[in-house]
Amino acid sequence: MKQGLFFVLEGVDGAGTTSQSRHLASSLQKLGKRAHVTAEPSQGPIGSLLRQILQRRLVVPARDGSRFPSWNTMALLFAADRLDHLESEIVPMLQEGITIICDRYYHSSVAYQSVTAVVSDQAAQWIDQINRYARRPDLTVVLDVSFAVAQQRRRMRHGRELYESDSLQQKLCDVYKNIEKYLASEAIVHIDAEASFNRVAQDLLERVSELYNR
Ligand SMILES: Nc1ncnc2c1ncn2[C@@H]1O[C@H](COP(=O)(O)OP(=O)(O)OP(=O)(O)O)[C@@H](O)[C@H]1O
Ligand SMILES: [Mg+2]
Repeated sequence: MKQGLFFVLEGVDGAGTTSQSRHLASSLQKLGKRAHVTAEPSQGPIGSLLRQILQRRLVVPARDGSRFPSWNTMALLFAADRLDHLESEIVPMLQEGITIICDRYYHSSVAYQSVTAVVSDQAAQWIDQINRYARRPDLTVVLDVSFAVAQQRRRMRHGRELYESDSLQQKLCDVYKNIEKYLASEAIVHIDAEASFNRVAQDLLERVSELYNR
């Protein structure tokens, strides 16, 4: 049986990866394709641990009180969750011929953990290495938005997560703009995600459809 296609949506917080992933899955289903949307952190055990950390519900004891796990611990947890997610959900479904749309993948690790690391270029290389066994997507679409637009969209939602400080988000915008620099020889395209929701959805569907016709 022909394997399903593996698509990843990426971008800064507020770029629209969650809403566009869901919309893309339903558009593909309306076209008669089997499509499944999933997200990182996953619903598995390591994913739920990560979500607790991101929502500041779990902190690590330290001599002077408590702290958040450091960037390298986070990178390893995300890499472990990714392999578990692949094994339990993504790969079996791809083998059944189902298209997978994943809201964030190792590009997020490269971006988020390297901007929180001490020396970010070296960190990106190491993050790439620890994700070496993670299956490569058939296509990654980066939703490009400026810092200001993303900030405005984040304000429409509730709760502030660990990585949502303004200074960090500004750095993330810069990393996402040139994410290919860290992930050479990968199938990555950028879409202008400052356009209306429907315009972005249409661009995304066009990009993805090209792979079905290959
Ligand atoms: N093209 C768009 N135009 C206007 N609003 C949008 C657009 N895309 C998404 N939004 C809105 O912006 C907000 C953030 O979108 P969404 O939650 O999908 O972003 P996200 O990238 O998944 O963020 P995070 O990574 O933090 O989960 C939502 O309220 C969503 O409806
Ligand atoms: Mg989201």
